[in-house]
Amino acid sequence: MSMISFAPGAGVWLLVTPDTSYALRIDESGAPCHVAWGPRLTLEEAEELAAPRPSATSSFEGRPAVGEELPVDGGTRYGPPSLQVRFTDGSRAFEWEPTGHRMDENSPRTGELVLTFRDRRYPLHVALHYRVHTDTDVIERRTVVRNAGDQPVTLLRADSAAWTLPSLRDYRLSHVTGQWSAESQLRRDQLPYGETVLTSRRGITSHHANPWVMLDDGTATEEHGRVWSTALAWSGSWRITAQRTPDGRAGLTGGIGHDGTSVPLDPGEEFAAPPFLGLFTDGGFGGASRAWHAHALAHVLPHPDEVAPVLYNSWEATGFDVDEAGQKALAERAAALGVELYVVDDGWFGARRSDRAGLGDWTPAPDRFPDGLGPLVGAVHALGMRFGLWVEPEAVNPDSDLYRQHPDWVMHFPGRPRSELRHQLVLNFARRDVADWVHDRLTRLVGDHGIDFLKWDMNRAFSEAGWPGRQDGTDRLGPAYVRNLYGVIDRLRADRPTLRIESCSGGGGRVDLGILSRTDQAWASDNTDAADRMGIQHGYGQVYPARTMGSWVTDVPNQLTGRTVPLRFRFHVAMAGALGIGGDLRRWSEDELREAATLVAEYKDVRHLVQHGRLDRLSPPSDDAPSVVQYTAPDTSETLLLAWRRTARHGSPQPPVRLRGLTPEARYRDARTGAVHQAAVLTGYGMHLDLPPGDWSSAAVHLIRETEA
Ligand code: DGJ
Repeated sequence: MSMISFAPGAGVWLLVTPDTSYALRIDESGAPCHVAWGPRLTLEEAEELAAPRPSATSSFEGRPAVGEELPVDGGTRYGPPSLQVRFTDGSRAFEWEPTGHRMDENSPRTGELVLTFRDRRYPLHVALHYRVHTDTDVIERRTVVRNAGDQPVTLLRADSAAWTLPSLRDYRLSHVTGQWSAESQLRRDQLPYGETVLTSRRGITSHHANPWVMLDDGTATEEHGRVWSTALAWSGSWRITAQRTPDGRAGLTGGIGHDGTSVPLDPGEEFAAPPFLGLFTDGGFGGASRAWHAHALAHVLPHPDEVAPVLYNSWEATGFDVDEAGQKALAERAAALGVELYVVDDGWFGARRSDRAGLGDWTPAPDRFPDGLGPLVGAVHALGMRFGLWVEPEAVNPDSDLYRQHPDWVMHFPGRPRSELRHQLVLNFARRDVADWVHDRLTRLVGDHGIDFLKWDMNRAFSEAGWPGRQDGTDRLGPAYVRNLYGVIDRLRADRPTLRIESCSGGGGRVDLGILSRTDQAWASDNTDAADRMGIQHGYGQVYPARTMGSWVTDVPNQLTGRTVPLRFRFHVAMAGALGIGGDLRRWSEDELREAATLVAEYKDVRHLVQHGRLDRLSPPSDDAPSVVQYTAPDTSETLLLAWRRTARHGSPQPPVRLRGLTPEARYRDARTGAVHQAAVLTGYGMHLDLPPGDWSSAAVHLIRETEA
């Protein structure tokens, strides 16, 4: 079946993915309207669904509030608009006039449908893009608005897409909320009637909300039930509005910016909204997560086939107290553990001895690196590890040479205070000269020192986001900032294809499908307490794959929480993502170093499963019951169980845990004990994990399919 087809009689377009369909049409008024999003359909079936149905009529209703592909501000529409336009004469409406459509199946694996429109009276053009692939149920949508006239136009809202859900008996919304060091807390609540706004006004994706949602009818479980999920690929301020109408419908609109957005469009100018992706599954929340992970690995990450190296990061060990001798001592110990990438964190440059000074001055501090970074980079390479360096290119301390030279480079409003957070201000990356300067500085840094990896950090929210001296500058700042940020990263990568990048924003403040399409992993949280991490990682993995989830083993008592957790438990939790180590290895005992080296080696044996396998969350994080995740090879030849139990209660035996996704009728051998289990028993009746007694008990069980004799 073709990925995209069109029924001219009914005027219906049908998009088909491996297991789902999406259909739309243009109604009598010319507006693009939703028809269906769910299980696979034929064109004939989609036509049946497209038959217009009577809607409630009263002089207070107007057009249905849910059900258009991009509800505009205009006519008798009263829901949240996805597109809101202001023309120079004061007119605010948009009237749809279809001008054509394109169905491109240029590649055998990807197809794109583009519907084009113009306003009936003004020279403003809108194109709705839908991209589908043969190997994913994710539909990528975006909108492009172009001013084809000779007068400026202002976009007061220009969302990427609106998504319509079918009529369900109830609606439940899953999403994450959080704050610094407590990111990705999964919430699952009935969707209230009215409008529910998830947003970041902080200029970054944010710790407080993340631009994805899942919706179901209240009955979906981890493995069963219908789930619709969307995710916005954008790393600046954003807004997703979920609407539930009194007549029992629900839909979403989402895009860049928040309240008060105002994007100027000069004559001839185009605004391309970022992709807003969506998927439907009948495999429950686990099915939705797996579909997102597979999509990210196939179509988002720049190097999806690579396994993330085991890294060491110096931050928790040394703080700002970074020097050549101390870093070399740590690097030697890290190499002995099997670490593959050594990352020097904050504190290596300029006058940076605390968070009060030096940010922006990207030259090695002469008092701590008298011969520059060369000797340390050489030593790390000689130890067989790659070398990584922390940078925070978007920010500046007022106490820095950069700020003294270019006080006008920060975002600000003339005459207003420049609010500092962590003693720093934000560079106006929307300015091309600022972005070019950063690109040049980083190019030289990476090139001069043979740097293999950058940890790209951003440690504050925006404030006073003004761009003085440029007409409309302040309105342009938000989108231009993110585009230039992406541009600098893209250019760096293109110039140096071996460079790998970690996205960090005070932990997980910048994790989204936009940044993940140009970085290799993300730092999920500054909270490295294994107990807290279980919940953070559970939320992170709802959409983003384990391949991208940086997770370190650090010292105890934990710097943030004061909690002491056994080394083995800390490792087992960190092994659920891209494993790193962040403790002060100079203080680890010989026994701890030995145990750590063993666990690093164990991780290397199974990381291909964690990073590229299928995730099954067999039981979610809990205070006293084991939480178990399973990662299975795509060909089901191997599987890994990671189990963690924080508190042992009442000495009760734990019930067996039922595995998923094994080869039926095969036998699986436990790589550590040699015990052989039959797949039917493991999946139908379960496996006793035999966690050691006591609190903070954990296990990693690696099962390998026996080959037929
Ligand atoms: C915030 C990051 O999340 C930390 O890992 C560390 O890099 C600090 N910034 C350094 O200032």
